[in-house]
Amino acid sequence: MFPKTMAAVCALSTALAAPALAQEVRADLRDEALDMFSPLPSTIPSVTDNPITAEKIDLGKALFFDPRMSASGVFSCNSCHNLATGGDDNLETSIGHGWQKGPRNAPTVLNAVFNAAQFWDGRAPDLAAQAKGPVQAGVEMANTPDNVLATLNSMPQYVAWFRGAFPEQDEPVSFDNFAKAIEAYEATLLTPAPFDAWLNGNDDALTEEQVRGLQTFVDAGCASCHNGINLGGQDYFPFGLVEKPGADVLPEDDKGRFAVTETAYDEYVFRAAPLRNIEVTAPYFHSGKVWDLRTAVEIMASSQLGAELSEGELDDVVAFLGSLTGEMPEVSYPVLPAETGDTPRPTA
Ligand code: HEM
Ligand code: HEM
Repeated sequence: MFPKTMAAVCALSTALAAPALAQEVRADLRDEALDMFSPLPSTIPSVTDNPITAEKIDLGKALFFDPRMSASGVFSCNSCHNLATGGDDNLETSIGHGWQKGPRNAPTVLNAVFNAAQFWDGRAPDLAAQAKGPVQAGVEMANTPDNVLATLNSMPQYVAWFRGAFPEQDEPVSFDNFAKAIEAYEATLLTPAPFDAWLNGNDDALTEEQVRGLQTFVDAGCASCHNGINLGGQDYFPFGLVEKPGADVLPEDDKGRFAVTETAYDEYVFRAAPLRNIEVTAPYFHSGKVWDLRTAVEIMASSQLGAELSEGELDDVVAFLGSLTGEMPEVSYPVLPAETGDTPRPTA
């Protein structure tokens, strides 16, 4: 009897000790993680030179969804950054004006406000500078600032909304303010995820597999490039730091940041991609050539770290990346002002 009871006591104490140890490991990992990552803030972040107000957010939302901001009247920001599908278009590379296929995959607009710079090559310093690009890009919305302003000025409701959003200005309907309003709206597109809850102290927010995946993500070196609030979006690195992927993944004609800085050092250098909601924003990489997240992780391990992850490690890392899928912003479709006789007509 006695030895049996002892055995039971020992088994019980081992059973009790195991979770305690795991909890200690989790606490250490959390401390380590908090040095590298930050949880999403629970309020709308402030943006430089653009105080965010409810009026600006509402105007920005209308502009984000308005296809009449494009020359054809077909494409809105939401066409390629669809808020119903993870803030992107789920295409290899985007389709824009005149059914043209653009050169790069569309990144998500969700949480983009936290990126240090915008675009795969970081060529726009912030969301307001960024928003002026697609409107004018021939393969996206193919419009001109003048035509955007003529369109907006033709609809009294838009003029009133601009007045409300920029009350201190004499001429509130401007291309700068168009971009600022969109930036204000985009700053609201935040997706708090289980990983945030875990960073904030909730052990139950991640599964065991996800915790192991986080440990691998940190230990293998992924976090040396993918860190900060967005687990990326902060700095630039050669795609193929250790071993250049084939042209099927890294097409030779897109030299990334080289086009921005024109220094040889920046050839094939790209912004470490932000990884929030990565599970729902396939296909991957600026080329959009990889549809499977596990394959994308394998490519990263070999190209950036010269490492081969085991099957189990790959499963864990992919599970961890799943913990970055957040609660999507609830979006009610805006009702937009009707055109008037003065509204410029769509062009083909
Ligand atoms: C990049 C917003 C219209 C396709 C981006 C980014 C933002 C954004 C914030 C950068 C995200 C990041 O770097 O993480 C907008 C807004 C639009 C708009 C506010 C409307 C004014 C469009 C349209 C298309 C499109 C209509 C497709 C036809 C893309 C692509 C990129 C991009 C392909 C990546 C380009 C590169 O890195 O060179 N957009 N977008 N966007 N967007 Fe848009
Ligand atoms: C892109 C994960 C290591 C730099 C990506 C993407 C994923 C990912 C899933 C695709 C993002 C998208 O398509 O939106 C990982 C994992 C890593 C790792 C799991 C560890 C195994 C690294 C390291 C660096 C790095 C160490 C820097 C040396 C980049 C860059 C891109 C990227 C520059 C953009 C590539 C492009 O232009 O298409 N990463 N990454 N990554 N990562 Fe990593």
